[in-house]
Amino acid sequence: MHYQLCNNSTMKANIILTTLSTILVLSITLDSCKKDSTSEQTNTNTEFIADNSTFSDFMSWPLQAEKNGADPSLGMAHAGNDSTANRKVHFKSGVNPVNGVYPVGSVIVKHTTNKAGTLNELTAMVKRGNNFNPSKGNWEFFMLKPDGSIAQDSTGMSMRGANLMNGMCGSCHAGASAKDFIFSK
Ligand code: HEC
Repeated sequence: MHYQLCNNSTMKANIILTTLSTILVLSITLDSCKKDSTSEQTNTNTEFIADNSTFSDFMSWPLQAEKNGADPSLGMAHAGNDSTANRKVHFKSGVNPVNGVYPVGSVIVKHTTNKAGTLNELTAMVKRGNNFNPSKGNWEFFMLKPDGSIAQDSTGMSMRGANLMNGMCGSCHAGASAKDFIFSK
């Protein structure tokens, strides 16, 4: 009898202890969740993830810059070696930087063609935000198809990302880092 009572109270104590530690674990978990969402708010880490519809009507967006001819500083990029090239840069909704930084969701398309009509190249930059590409202003780089949908490489992978073309897009655009990596505005 005595043995049973003792056993019973040990069990009770165990239950209380387990409950207490569960509450402790729960409150720590809740607390860390709270911290996450607070830091998210203070860093304004919103994210804009582009899809095919993002670029579809790019031809009607405000034309920010237009250049013609070869441009040795471009090398092969944007058909810099083609003396008949035409390069148009469209800013979606005519977006402007705010205090030197483009807002998350900014979309810019560069459309390069040539006189012979053998070239119809579309590149794009989208301000994705949320620490996506911190060393390059959180921009995401894209190659598009002529209809404005996101191009795919020969393995079927979407041609987009922080390091598109082995990082060549980003490293050349770093030349405009003082203007948030955008040359044309
Ligand atoms: C060798 C340098 C170089 C490389 C590589 C390069 N760009 Fe550019 N890009 C420029 C320059 C310079 C401009 C400004 C327009 C001009 O002078 O023709 C520009 C303009 C643009 C624009 C219009 C916004 C702006 O900055 O004016 C977009 C969008 C763009 N490039 C996307 C890309 C993408 C995507 C890649 C990689 C696939 C890429 N660029 C690779 C030099 C480069």
